[in-house]
Amino acid sequence: MTTNEHILESVAYLNSKGVDQPEVGIILGTGLGQLIHEIEVLEKIPYEFIPHFPVSIVDFHKGQLIFAKINGRKVIIMQGRFHMYEGYKPESITYPVRVLHALGISSLLISNAAGAVNLSYKKGELMLFNDHINLLGGSPLAYNGVEHLGNRFVDMSAPYDFSMSQRLKQTAKSLNITLHEGVYAAVLGPQLETRAEYRMLKILGADAVGMSTVPEVIVANQLKIPVIALSILTDVCDPDHLEPINIPDIMAQAAKAEPNLILLFKSLI
Ligand code: HPA
Repeated sequence: MTTNEHILESVAYLNSKGVDQPEVGIILGTGLGQLIHEIEVLEKIPYEFIPHFPVSIVDFHKGQLIFAKINGRKVIIMQGRFHMYEGYKPESITYPVRVLHALGISSLLISNAAGAVNLSYKKGELMLFNDHINLLGGSPLAYNGVEHLGNRFVDMSAPYDFSMSQRLKQTAKSLNITLHEGVYAAVLGPQLETRAEYRMLKILGADAVGMSTVPEVIVANQLKIPVIALSILTDVCDPDHLEPINIPDIMAQAAKAEPNLILLFKSLI
C-alpha cells in the first residue's frame, strides 16, 4: 500500500540525485521518447533505482525519470509508464504521479498512443482530451488507506485543466498543427478491441480508445495538479472496415506524429 513515508523516501532519493524542484511533469506514452533528444537533460534516473517505484516490464517502455530544462524551466519526465495490462494495480501505476507531486510540480502533461473511434480523425493526428470514460475496471483510489493521501471522493466534473487546454489549442493553431478535441475511453487491454467493442465505444461517446492515462489523471485530480492529456492517433477503428492490428505500424505512426506533440509541449512550457 502506498504511504506518505514511501513517497518521502522516493523524493529524498531523487533529491539526492540532483532532482531539484521541477515545475512541470511530463508522462511520455508508448513509443514516444524523442523529446529527450531535444532538451537539456540534467539527470537520468532508472526507475529500478528509485525506492518503491514499480519497474517497467514491457520492453518498448524504457523506464527512467529524466530531470531536464525546457525553455529555462525545470521539468521532470517519465519516459516509460505502467499499464494495468502488465499486471500492475492502478495504485502502483499512479505512484510516480504522487512522487512528482511531492517533488513540487505544478502542472502535468500526459501523452499516449490511441486508436481513433471518431472516424473523422486520421492516423497520425493528435487529440486533446476534453473528458474521459474509465473502462479499466478499477480505480487508483479504491483501497483502504487512500484517505491518508488525499480526498477519496474526488471531483471529476472537470478533470482536464481549462486554461492549459486553451493555450494548447491556440499554440496548435499558430503552428498549423491539427488538434482534435474529444473523449478518451480507457480500456484494460492488452488485446485490441473487437468490431462490436468499437461500435460500443462509439455509442458510449468515445472519440479515442487506449489503455492508459486515466489512472494518472484521477490521481492528478485528487492531488489538484492541473493536468492535460494528448493522444497520438495511431490507427483508425472503423468497425465496418477493420484490418488486423499491426503493432509495428502503431509504433511507426506514433514516431511519425511525435514531432508535432513535442512542438506543442515545448511551446506550452
Ligand atoms: N485500441 C486500444 N488501444 C490502442 C489502440 C486501439 O485501437 N491503438 C493504440 N492504442
